[in-house]
Amino acid sequence: MSFINFIILTHDSLPSTNTEAMEQARRGAKEGTTVIAREQTAGRGRLGRVWRSPPGAGLYMSLVLRPRIAYIARADFPMLVFAAALGVHDALRAACALSTDIKYPNDLLYDGRKLCGILGETIDTPQGTAAIIGIGINLTNEAFAPDLPHATSLEAATGKRFDAKLIMRAVLDAFAVRYEVLHKVNGIQNTLAAWSAASSFANDKPVRITLDNEIFVGTTRGLESDGALRVETLEGHLRLVRAGDVTAVRFDDEE
Ligand code: BTN
Repeated sequence: MSFINFIILTHDSLPSTNTEAMEQARRGAKEGTTVIAREQTAGRGRLGRVWRSPPGAGLYMSLVLRPRIAYIARADFPMLVFAAALGVHDALRAACALSTDIKYPNDLLYDGRKLCGILGETIDTPQGTAAIIGIGINLTNEAFAPDLPHATSLEAATGKRFDAKLIMRAVLDAFAVRYEVLHKVNGIQNTLAAWSAASSFANDKPVRITLDNEIFVGTTRGLESDGALRVETLEGHLRLVRAGDVTAVRFDDEE
């Protein structure tokens, strides 16, 4: 018996599965409601970016969550995207025999290239605050613009075409396990530890951090208890990163 029951709402075309899941949550949709579409006409990414979503080229899905507030406080909602990234990481291993890396905070990479992005949003509803977790996985190379050298797809990584619904099922099964862990004693610490074990970005990684008004380089030094990434700057100061873009660099690239 799964910790969470999934109710799947399938669409051929939607502007954005996240927008539809928010609308469903506003109207009282239960935890586990999952919206999936074959294409999105206005797919959204982090930091106001567009998520290209042509028909059948990607898995476009969004989950409605209503975390038990006694276990996961509103301030801990960022942990839901850590659990989602771990769920996708587990699912791609189980369904595609693929070993992926997690780039802070929640991109899945294969061979250093982006395979999956996750967009976490919240919405106040009459039943309390709901979290919407949107997951986009590139199934084929048509999912991203041809001039994007840092993107890849399941097809490019494995040589096989995967059915979106099969991958969705694997993601939901794996996410259910990670979501349950989050609700247990020490759930947040255990989730952060699992994230750190699965990500080459957690420790000792030379990175460039791009914030709204600033770019700096440094070396990663693990996660804070609230999920912020510790980065030691070249001057030896410790900075905490919660937003923005993290890119792997080689320090000789920066000279
Ligand atoms: C990112 O890496 O910037 C996050 C991308 C998230 C894309 C998914 S696709 C399904 C869901 N619906 C959206 O509009 N966005 C998310």
